[in-house]
Amino acid sequence: MSRIVYNPTPRLLIATTNRDKIGEIAQELSGIPYAIVTLDAWPHLSPPAETARTFNENARDKARYYAAATGELTVAEDSGLEIERLDGAPGVESARFGGPAASYADKFALIYEALRAKGAADTTARFVCALALVNGRQLLFQTAAIVEGRIASGPRGSGGFGYDPIFFYPPFQRTLAELSPQEKASISHRGQAFRALRRFLEAGPTSRLNA
Ligand code: IMP
Repeated sequence: MSRIVYNPTPRLLIATTNRDKIGEIAQELSGIPYAIVTLDAWPHLSPPAETARTFNENARDKARYYAAATGELTVAEDSGLEIERLDGAPGVESARFGGPAASYADKFALIYEALRAKGAADTTARFVCALALVNGRQLLFQTAAIVEGRIASGPRGSGGFGYDPIFFYPPFQRTLAELSPQEKASISHRGQAFRALRRFLEAGPTSRLNA
C-alpha cells in the first residue's frame, strides 16, 4: 500500500508593516519555494517597541516577537541611514527622526540644518539593513548589509521612499530616488541582505520546518 505524503509549501512571514519595504523585499524573494505571508493576516497585532541600540538587535527582537505571536517562520529587518558628520544619526532612529509628525521633507530640513551647524557641506553616509530569520525561539539566519554614499546637496528624484532623495550614490551619479527599482535593488542595503536570505533559503535548511 502506498502512503500519500502531503508536503505543503512552507510559509514565510515578512514581518514589516512598511509597504515600501514589503515591495522591495517581495521583489527580491520572488520565486522562492515559500508562500509569502504578511502582517495583513494579523491586523490586530501591535508592533513591538524598538528599544535596542543596534540594527542587528532590533531585527532579532522583531523577528522573535512576530514568530512567537504568529507561529510562523518569520523574517524581520531593521534599517536606517547613518550620516558620518552627524555621528551616525539618525541611525536606528531613522523612522522616528524629528518626531512622530515629521514628514520626510521635515527630516531632510533637519539634516541639512544640522550639517550646516557643523560646517559640513559634504559628508559620507550609508544605509544599513539587518535581517533575522526566526522559527519558534530559534534564530536560523542573520545578516546585515550596507550601501555607501554621500548626502546629496539637496533632495532629488521621486522614486524609492524615505531618505532616498538625499542619498547620492557616486557610482551611478544619482540619488537612490533617481534610480529605477531594479537599479536600487541591485546595489541597496536591502537588496544585498535579502539576496543573502534568498541564498540561505534556497539551500534548503528550513524547507522541512513547517511542512
Ligand atoms: P525601521 O527599520 O522600521 O526602524 O525603519 C527604517 C527607516 O529607515 C525607514 O522608515 C526609512 O526612514 C529609513 N530607510 C530604511 N531603508 C531605506 C531605504 O531603502 N530608503 C530610504 N530610507 C530608508
